[in-house]
Amino acid sequence: HAADGRKNGDIYRDYNDDRNASSEDTLYCTSNGVPYPHPYETQRVGENGPLLLQDFHLIDLISHFDRERIPERVVHAKGSGAHGYYKCTDPLDDLCLADMFQAGRTCPISMRFSTVGGESGSHDCARDPRGFAVKFRTDEGNWDMVFNNTPVFFLRDPAKFPHFIHTQKRDPATHLSGADDSTMFWDYVSQNPESVHQIMILMGDRGIPDGYRFMHGYSGHTLKLVNKQGEWVYVQFHFKSKQGTKYFTQEESTTKSPDHSQKDLYYAIENGDFPGWDMCVQTMKPKEAEELWEKQKINVFDLTHVWPQKQFPLRKVGEIVLNENAKNYFAEIEQIAFNPAHMPPGIEPSADPVLQSRLFSYPDTHRHRIGANYQQLPVNAPRVPYRFANFQRDGQMAFYNQGSRPNYLSSIEPITFRNRTVDLDKVHGHFQGKAIAFLSEIRPEDFNAPRNLWEKVFDDGAKERFIKNVSGHMSNCRREEIIKRQIAIFREVSEDIAQRLEKATGIKGYDGISELRFNGTHNGMAKDKSL
Ligand code: HEM
Repeated sequence: HAADGRKNGDIYRDYNDDRNASSEDTLYCTSNGVPYPHPYETQRVGENGPLLLQDFHLIDLISHFDRERIPERVVHAKGSGAHGYYKCTDPLDDLCLADMFQAGRTCPISMRFSTVGGESGSHDCARDPRGFAVKFRTDEGNWDMVFNNTPVFFLRDPAKFPHFIHTQKRDPATHLSGADDSTMFWDYVSQNPESVHQIMILMGDRGIPDGYRFMHGYSGHTLKLVNKQGEWVYVQFHFKSKQGTKYFTQEESTTKSPDHSQKDLYYAIENGDFPGWDMCVQTMKPKEAEELWEKQKINVFDLTHVWPQKQFPLRKVGEIVLNENAKNYFAEIEQIAFNPAHMPPGIEPSADPVLQSRLFSYPDTHRHRIGANYQQLPVNAPRVPYRFANFQRDGQMAFYNQGSRPNYLSSIEPITFRNRTVDLDKVHGHFQGKAIAFLSEIRPEDFNAPRNLWEKVFDDGAKERFIKNVSGHMSNCRREEIIKRQIAIFREVSEDIAQRLEKATGIKGYDGISELRFNGTHNGMAKDKSL
């Protein structure tokens, strides 16, 4: 012990104390805490002489600088975030046993919004889906909702994801992005027609949100809610912006700052104009899901389709508010790690294959992007009302290494366990079948929702802007064949879209997809069944 009673092993530097200290409260030091007189000084042999290797201060400074960058997120690299709270306004305890759905529960949250394809310095006003991720620090562990601002996605076969994303990245040879060359993008989507629902949204008026405050958030995926009786229902989550929705046209977007969304979110919170969202659920009984498939050919595990809201109305359960900016963007937003597999008791994944693959992908990338002990970082660490323990030990930067407690399941120093709250057999136990290598098939029903958008949702102005956006984007596509195929896909949505695009591009598309073979999917609408 030191003379004043401090012990080796005590932590003298507290995260929150450090985060909240002003510069005036601090003393300039090297990384080992030794005060140093001036940050610009270097030790050298005379005024014009070489530097000295003994100058720890300089080496400390520069070698840390050399290591400042961590890998940016492979997708959703450009983003903004903030902290706030969740409040349960309308309990869901009839359907779900999760603590956060009980009357009056609140918990702290952190959120991160993002664009998808661009690099970390890319433009906030890109035509791209937006990420909508929330970390709920519940009393039963962290729950991460890793959603988008659109209810559907480009694909339903998970192995397509890296291929699709690569088409959003720079070309391997030219190193040009989609802004200069859209060939890869249209090549991919014209070979994978199930993407057309998302393309209709992306190229329509909802393609460029005006900042992050004015957009909704959707799980897209189907999950499961389990109640205290062990009964379960399918669920989709929706976040409805209390600010309403606002979007930019293509022309407006080009006049905005590259950091438009960051500026908008940061200063709204700074000025006390706290953004909020209503959290709602859509639920469906297993029997209803079977009927939905039989009668309407909507598969709840298919993320390219939505659940009709007339049949499955939204039910509000709570609200979230963002009322605190990050003090340190890197520590609190760049290092935050959202994982769809983080679910508290009462929430279970469905068999949606894209969701299932995401349950693996996120913690895997976090170990690469941030390190094996990323869960120990303050922004990621659970804040539960019990002392949690497990048998994970060591690795780089192990900070909370669980003291002297046994690193194996010990009978000498036993650990406490809680009883299982969810009966896995009851919730997931109905799968059986032979192993198959599966690739999805295009069906006529894939075009119903996109057609509905065109015929019932888009007004005349929206239709014109859609054609302009698509044909403008296609003007950077180097292969006519690709455009002919994509026009054929749009023809399945509506003859009107195809004809307008033919006029705008000057390219005659194929008559429909019945004669086409796709490299990414089976063509269930082909005349020739070998296609
Ligand atoms: C970020 C993979 C589909 C929403 C990421 C990241 C990866 C990834 C590796 C980077 C995470 C990080 O570095 O922290 C995948 C895979 C998918 C998929 C493999 C499909 C097979 C989706 C879907 C959604 C989505 C369908 C929305 C419904 C997000 C969001 C982020 C993200 C919001 C950013 C999270 C943040 O702000 O840190 N994804 N993704 N992803 N993904 Fe996905």
